Amino acid sequence: MTSNQPKIRIGVLYGGRSGEHEVSLRSARSVMESLDPTRYEVVPIGITKEGRWVATGIEALTAGTVSGSGRSATLLPEPSDASLMAVDPTANDPATSSLSVITELDVVFPVLHGPYGEDGTVQGLLELAGLPYVGAGVVGSAVGMDKVIFKQVMIACGLPVLPWVMCTRRQWQAKPDAVIEAVETALPYPVFTKPVNLGSSVGISKCHDRDELRAGLDEAARFDRRLVAEQGINRARELEVSVLGNEEPVASVVGEVRPRREFYDYVAKYVAEPGSEDESELLIPANLTPDVAAAVRHLAVQAYQAIDCAGLGRVDMLLDDQTGQIYLNEINTIPGFTTISMYPKLWAATGMSYSELLDRLVDLALERHREKAALATSIDTTALRAVEG
Ligand SMILES: Nc1ncnc2c1ncn2[C@@H]1O[C@H](COP(=O)(O)OP(=O)(O)O)[C@@H](O)[C@H]1O
Ligand SMILES: [Mg+2]
Repeated sequence: MTSNQPKIRIGVLYGGRSGEHEVSLRSARSVMESLDPTRYEVVPIGITKEGRWVATGIEALTAGTVSGSGRSATLLPEPSDASLMAVDPTANDPATSSLSVITELDVVFPVLHGPYGEDGTVQGLLELAGLPYVGAGVVGSAVGMDKVIFKQVMIACGLPVLPWVMCTRRQWQAKPDAVIEAVETALPYPVFTKPVNLGSSVGISKCHDRDELRAGLDEAARFDRRLVAEQGINRARELEVSVLGNEEPVASVVGEVRPRREFYDYVAKYVAEPGSEDESELLIPANLTPDVAAAVRHLAVQAYQAIDCAGLGRVDMLLDDQTGQIYLNEINTIPGFTTISMYPKLWAATGMSYSELLDRLVDLALERHREKAALATSIDTTALRAVEG
């Protein structure tokens, strides 16, 4: 792109209402630092832990709240004007407008992980606002976030997932013994208990016996209305593939995470210091035969397409070393995106640098928006009446 072309104004949404707020700050910092300043004008948009939007850089958003003079910001749910608006807190007379334009936006990159960011909610707002945005749409995001609906979609598409038992928090609290019995009838230990909608291993436990299962379900119930108990694999190999694209997605080389802790829990993911005994190993590429690697990559693309993912997604699988069986575990539609995160590292190993990846994601967002804009949005009712008549 030559310098006289206008820069693309990219709103980077970061922070957010989820337990993964801090993780988002790290991803967003890398994204904002790496967007080519000759091509992009970055508009940072922070979301506090309470869900307030502020037009401010990451420095001002510490511990989930705004320090200093961040302007409250918002997007209107109407496509007429793709602008980030300032909300003026002093104008409380309903007769006067309390909104003013901060800046127009060309595209938005939601660098948000977990609920209220990766789950289709923010994507719904961006659809209403008529703005192009990076990543999956409403359905892909929502299905990617919901561990049980995801499994059901995989099964409907003939793709392999581990068996599970789901219950609501209400069922667990009202009839704990019935839930335990249902889980123990269906699944041998170890069993993983999880909140259905979350990420970053928050609320997840590996349960080796009934006492641990009770504790695990209690823990998961702190985070969600729906809980899942899933067949655990001992010594599972954890494989991850980065997928990129809209209608013709491509898969990166396969990576492997080797947690040194009992599983890839929150400590292993985010707390373990580099070089510490808790630090997980990332193997890129994973040590697999070419046939298995090809099968894993193919499976990743199939799963991605099955949930109508777009832009990007990191498809995580579990390989049972004893049987050789591969299971789809989950798709992260907004995976960790620091320069040392698995998603960009897999692309780097496949030949695409971090900044090339950002360019590609913006192109894919704009392409998808153009395709949608070309769709018919109304039907000719006179013609219909003529058919009926
Ligand atoms: N069925 C399972 N068998 C073995 N390990 C599992 C299983 N489910 C989850 N794990 C372990 O727990 C981690 C987090 O689970 P995951 O379902 O990926 O949740 P999250 O969305 O929080 O990443 C996985 O990376 C893996 O280490
Ligand atoms: Mg995971």
